[in-house]
Amino acid sequence: MCRYLISRILSVTGITREKMRPIVITGFMGCGKSKIARALARRLDIPVIDLDDVITARQGRTPAQLITEEGEPAFREIESNTLRETLKIPAGVIALGGGAWIEKTNRDLIDQRGCLSIWLDVPFALCWSRIEASEEDRPLGRTRKQAQALYERRKPIYQLADIHVQRMANENLEDFISRISLAADERR
Ligand code: S3P
Repeated sequence: MCRYLISRILSVTGITREKMRPIVITGFMGCGKSKIARALARRLDIPVIDLDDVITARQGRTPAQLITEEGEPAFREIESNTLRETLKIPAGVIALGGGAWIEKTNRDLIDQRGCLSIWLDVPFALCWSRIEASEEDRPLGRTRKQAQALYERRKPIYQLADIHVQRMANENLEDFISRISLAADERR
C-alpha cells in the first residue's frame, strides 16, 4: 500500500525513479545503516547497494581484513575508488561504511553526483551495544574507549549531511522509514 502511494506521489509530481537523486546513508558503526538502507530502498522501490559488500566482493577481503592487513590509508583509497564507481548507478540507496563520509574526497564525490545524504544520528551507547553484540570485526572500534573517541571526532562531520534522522523511542521501523522517505521527498 505504502509502496503504491509513493509510486503515485512520484508519478503525480512528475518525479521518475530515473530522476531520483541517489541517496547515501551515513552514520557511525552500529547505527543501522545497512538495515535502514534496505528498508528505504524497498519502500522507494529502487536498488540498494552496501558499499562494504561491494568492496568485499571486488577485493575478496572485507573492509576489516583490508584495514588489518593493508592499513587504514590503503583501505580508504580502495573505499574511495569503489564509491566513485558505485555512484554511477542511476538511482538507488547506498549504505556507506562508517568512515566513508568522513573523507572529504568522498563527500565531494557524493556532492558532485548530486546525492541526498542522510545521517542516522544514533547515540553512542546504542551503537556500542550493537558493536559489542555483533560478530563482525570492527578494527577501528575494538574497545569502547577507542570507539567513543572516534564517535566524538566524527560527529561534527556526520552533521554535514543534508538530512539528520533520529529514531524516536518506540518508533517502529515502518514509521521510521516513512519519516525518512518523506524528508527525502522534500529534498528532491
Ligand atoms: C568503518 C566502518 C565499517 C567498515 C570499516 C571501517 C569505519 O563499516 O567500513 O571497518 O571507519 O567506521 P560499518 O559502519 O558498517 O561498521
